[in-house]
Amino acid sequence: MTKGRIFSGIQPTGIIHLGNYVGAIQQWVKLMHDYDCIYCIVDYHAITIEYDRQSLRDNIMEAGVTLIACGIDPERCTLFVQSQVPEHTELAWIFNCITPIGDLERMTQFKEKSAQHREHINMGLLDYPVLQAADILIYKAGFVPVGEDQVQHIELTRRTARRFNNRFGETFPEPQEILTPTSRIMGTDGKTKMSKSLNNYIGILEPPDVIWEKLRTSVTDENRKRRNDPGNPDICNLFTIHKVFSAPEDIARINRACRSAEIGCIECKKILFNNLMAHLAPIQQSAAKLRDKPELVIDALDEGARRCREMAAQVMDEVRIKVGLLPCTK
Ligand code: AMP
Ligand code: TRP
Repeated sequence: MTKGRIFSGIQPTGIIHLGNYVGAIQQWVKLMHDYDCIYCIVDYHAITIEYDRQSLRDNIMEAGVTLIACGIDPERCTLFVQSQVPEHTELAWIFNCITPIGDLERMTQFKEKSAQHREHINMGLLDYPVLQAADILIYKAGFVPVGEDQVQHIELTRRTARRFNNRFGETFPEPQEILTPTSRIMGTDGKTKMSKSLNNYIGILEPPDVIWEKLRTSVTDENRKRRNDPGNPDICNLFTIHKVFSAPEDIARINRACRSAEIGCIECKKILFNNLMAHLAPIQQSAAKLRDKPELVIDALDEGARRCREMAAQVMDEVRIKVGLLPCTK
């Protein structure tokens, strides 16, 4: 018996950074043991902003490689690519017809992305959260492990489920987000959320020298101007990362030694780098092996899509009937 069904997704951006890893993937791996988990590489979401057609396919494969290397085990959960299960976009269409445009215009992510991509504000970008609601609800998932930035989208998913159920009869659960204690990692600038598009990220598969250079130049507590100034770990993004990757003794010591200026930022960063690499090195090795055997990844994704299509087709037929359309299986 599992504790219920989980769905979550990640965009194939070509890079999985520490924010994704700490805010979502580490949690995905843990939850795999107790829940029935479905994890999705959301390629249809990735094309809502300008993208390079040549790289997209590579990025989808790279997402598969990285997730499996991080410990997402296709034998214990279902891992698949969104565009290989057409029911996601079919259900999104039905949801489109019950979603007020105002709800979508209010979404923070839409406002941010439309400001970033002024030349390319398309319907897909506005509709992004509706497709996300369909991703989750087509499997009637009860729980969604995500970072803090996605909570608003999960709220919209609940509202969509409620609206559908009220109008057409009880069909969908109202899913709950599952947040990690560190559900928001800031970028190397220390100011904005770590993300690929802001180029303030540390990729979990980047070579150690690149990771060190990014850590070395990362913004810490900006009030600490000189080596002998006491620092404040509570406002330092790197201390947040320490709390994830360092042992309790290291964390306690740094917390104390930073406040008393016993330890400087560079020393603190070196400790973090060593602890971080001890965690990432096995993941990097396993990714290198998987890149040499892409067929393993392709087979896992194919099998995942097959399982998902079976589940999704049934729910889609239930939906068609409830909204007054004809069923279409068989
Ligand atoms: P994305 O790369 O936008 O598809 O995000 C995949 C997952 O990573 C989602 O659950 C996000 O909430 C999470 N995530 C992305 N950026 C961060 C961040 N800077 N801190 C914490 N979680 C994040
Ligand atoms: N919008 C999510 C992100 O950018 C990715 C995503 C798409 C997702 N569909 C989902 C996350 C369904 C959770 C559940 O991070």
